[in-house]
Amino acid sequence: MKQTRRPYLKACIKESMRVLPVVTGNARTSTKEYNLLGYKIPKGIMIGLSHQYLSVKEDHYPRPEEFIPERWLVDKHDPLYHGNTHPFVTSPFGFGVRMCIGRRIAELELETFISKVVENFQIGWKGGPIQVSGTSLNYITGPFNLIFNDI
Ligand code: HEM
Repeated sequence: MKQTRRPYLKACIKESMRVLPVVTGNARTSTKEYNLLGYKIPKGIMIGLSHQYLSVKEDHYPRPEEFIPERWLVDKHDPLYHGNTHPFVTSPFGFGVRMCIGRRIAELELETFISKVVENFQIGWKGGPIQVSGTSLNYITGPFNLIFNDI
């Protein structure tokens, strides 16, 4: 079967997950006491990591509020290079042994669905910005102002 790499589409998906991830953060319970840079973390407490919050901070990405897929494609000499930030800042599928087991399926579904839509329709948007209800998951509450025209 012919393999298609579609690097720009993959970069768009990564950038979407940075700006507006499906899961807003991640959590772990400490199994022992830690001393992290002088912060004493007791055993048995919940530690939260809000990657949505961190991912749109100037400290971590240049022009953080802008949708720039190129930051996932440029090399390390470019100021936009995504690798200049800590790898845990943007972790939409979590990390480690409990990370999302469906990550590859989800990414494959997204790539397949979006590439088929883009190949077959000219896509537009009419109206104001999307409305999002965000708790631990982000939901688009609508209205869905998408317009699809046959190519
Ligand atoms: C865009 C789609 C998806 C996103 C953003 C997502 C995100 C996540 C995140 C953040 C976690 C927690 C990871 C951690 O604690 O380190 C998780 C766990 C999990 N996800 Fe997903 N997920 C997606 C789709 C899927 C799909 C399609 C499946 C199944 C086919 C799936 C199955 C699971 C399972 C079973 C866990 C629990 C893993 C464990 O606790 O050991 N996810 N997901």
